[in-house]
Amino acid sequence: MTEPIRLEVNGHPYSIVVDDPDMPLLYALRDDLGLSNPRFGCGLAQCGACTVHVDGAAVRSCVTPVASVKDKKITTLAGLGTPEHPHPLQTAYIAEQVPQCGYCINGWIMTAAALLKETPHPSDAQIRDGLSGLKCRCGTHLAILRAVKRAAQA
Ligand code: FES
Ligand code: FES
Repeated sequence: MTEPIRLEVNGHPYSIVVDDPDMPLLYALRDDLGLSNPRFGCGLAQCGACTVHVDGAAVRSCVTPVASVKDKKITTLAGLGTPEHPHPLQTAYIAEQVPQCGYCINGWIMTAAALLKETPHPSDAQIRDGLSGLKCRCGTHLAILRAVKRAAQA
């Protein structure tokens, strides 16, 4: 029997009905809730474009079964900051003019936000290590490094 799954996303409660509880959280966020920040890149946990926070930890929503996160606190890029009160990483991304095509931004910022929460003043090596599983085909890596360091100083 299909049962509703309760999700808390960016502080708002949602209830969705899915045919398959193993459906990726990414599909629920994008298709059921209309939240477009988490991106579909590889679908195989290889690029990070789909990253969201679940109870504060960065997870790849393309390989996270939606039923496994019921009643947990999910945060997407849209919930990280607001235009009035942006997250320091969002401010730093603008200051460093990081984005090119922008497709990868969600994954880098969500992963870096979790990293900075855990390690507020990371070394270059810690930043590189923490973000090593992410992909940017536009080659913005040096600008990303500057932005994360700027956000850490903010
Ligand atoms: S789309 Fe999830 S890691 Fe690439
Ligand atoms: S800015 Fe284009 S893939 Fe990263």
